[in-house]
Amino acid sequence: MGSQRKALPPSLLLLLLCAGPARPDQGADSGESSAETTLISGQGLINLGQRWGSKTPLMHTTANLTEVTSIKSSFEFRTLDPEGVVFYGDTRGGADWFVLALRGGRPEMQIGKADVLTTVTGGPKLDDGRWHKIELRSEGRSVVLELDGVVALVVGLHSQKTQTDLTGQMRLSLGGILITEQRLLNPLRMEMDGCVRAGTWLNLSTPWETDLSQELQPCFTSISKGSYFPGTGLATFNSSDFPVHQTDGSEVSIEIEGYDVLTWSGTVLSLKTLQGEAVLTVTAHNETGEFIVKFGTQTSTVKMDPFDLDLNLTKHALEVSDGPIMEDDTHDWLSMWNEGMVLAFGGVSDGTEDSSSPYLHGCLRRIQIQGQEVDLDRAIYKHNSVSSHSCPRKRPPGVYAMPVVGGYW
Ligand SMILES: *[C@@H]1O[C@H](CO)[C@@H](O)[C@H](O)[C@H]1NC(C)=O
Ligand SMILES: *[C@@H]1O[C@H](CO)[C@@H](O)[C@H](O)[C@H]1NC(C)=O
Ligand SMILES: *[C@@H]1O[C@H](CO)[C@@H](O)[C@H](O)[C@H]1NC(C)=O
Ligand SMILES: *[C@@H]1O[C@H](CO)[C@@H](O)[C@H](O)[C@H]1NC(C)=O
Ligand SMILES: *[C@@H]1O[C@H](CO)[C@@H](O)[C@H](O)[C@H]1NC(C)=O
Repeated sequence: MGSQRKALPPSLLLLLLCAGPARPDQGADSGESSAETTLISGQGLINLGQRWGSKTPLMHTTANLTEVTSIKSSFEFRTLDPEGVVFYGDTRGGADWFVLALRGGRPEMQIGKADVLTTVTGGPKLDDGRWHKIELRSEGRSVVLELDGVVALVVGLHSQKTQTDLTGQMRLSLGGILITEQRLLNPLRMEMDGCVRAGTWLNLSTPWETDLSQELQPCFTSISKGSYFPGTGLATFNSSDFPVHQTDGSEVSIEIEGYDVLTWSGTVLSLKTLQGEAVLTVTAHNETGEFIVKFGTQTSTVKMDPFDLDLNLTKHALEVSDGPIMEDDTHDWLSMWNEGMVLAFGGVSDGTEDSSSPYLHGCLRRIQIQGQEVDLDRAIYKHNSVSSHSCPRKRPPGVYAMPVVGGYW
């Protein structure tokens, strides 16, 4: 405290600092320190993908600018999610800010400083499920982003209003931002299903604060593309988000792929009217290798295909791959679909789980409706335990032992 460390030149300081007249720190528009918080290290393995619907970041920390001795942050990052926030930093209570995000799988930096907003997107795609080393640093009037040791993006920014005042605090956060979304130049879907590790944040040793009310999600050792349902929750959509064009469309087609469908257990998909009446429920039974399909008042048993589950809903019937056509002409299902029904993956939407429709345990490799890929980050609701873009990867059978010449195992 009050140590006379040499302050860094303002033009060098981090990504964000120092512009305009300094204001006293505002407690910020972040709503921070409201809930119970706990302190965690910024260096460990951290899953950023959680806190559904909450606009506050997963974790944040605050440091006095006089303590900042380094203009560099570095960490490793792994994701299969093409869009979301990774890292955020600000000074002057959010008046000057910096965001590192992913868009279309590529890194994006957005900066707001004094009255200037800037954004740059580019460089290699990072959403390949491998660990990448990321380094952010200030160089003169630029912010430099290095990926795996190679400079990928550089943003230059200068404001005439820059002053040399370096007092006050800096805030950093992971997996979310501390200012309102409206202040971004380029709107962004915040949720990020990704993990960071080995972080050094401006060489600060201060621990990070995180909300205790929701448990931290694990990072899987290795990941595959898909949406993972661990058996504790579901994701819901409004069916009208996937409209059937009545002219050419005489059906709604839903295709769900898996790596190994026979391991699924629980409710894969359900459809309910807005009034809460069950329309369709598909439950996987791994013990028998069958799906139980309930459509209206009918129930059928369908043998699982190892790699996918296809359903077509028509005006008066449901067709299931390798199953019977289940007819029901009590409603025009396509009109109801277009008007809006609650479509859920991984369970039956109404908050209760019963023995006939338990939550799904399994990996849905890809979900398509009308040939369009469904992104769980766009759901109306998603339980925090469901990872929208990554499944734990199992080693394929037969690769447990390295082939050894002359060996018999
Ligand atoms: C940061 O500054 C505030 C107010 O100036 C002071 O109360 C606090 O102890 C400082 N924190 C550290 C870690 O130096
Ligand atoms: C980082 O912090 C450590 C310990 O606080 C210090 O010894 C080291 O010099 C700092 N590095 C930089 C680049 O400031
Ligand atoms: C079926 O799935 C459940 C839940 O994942 C699992 O505990 C059980 O071992 C599985 N049974 C078979 C036969 O695969
Ligand atoms: C659904 O319709 C598509 C296109 O008409 C067809 O290719 C597919 O086989 C149908 N699937 C089922 C399960 O009937
Ligand atoms: C679903 O969409 C329909 C039509 O767009 C709308 O009337 C309905 O309120 C929506 N339902 C929910 C739960 O969002």
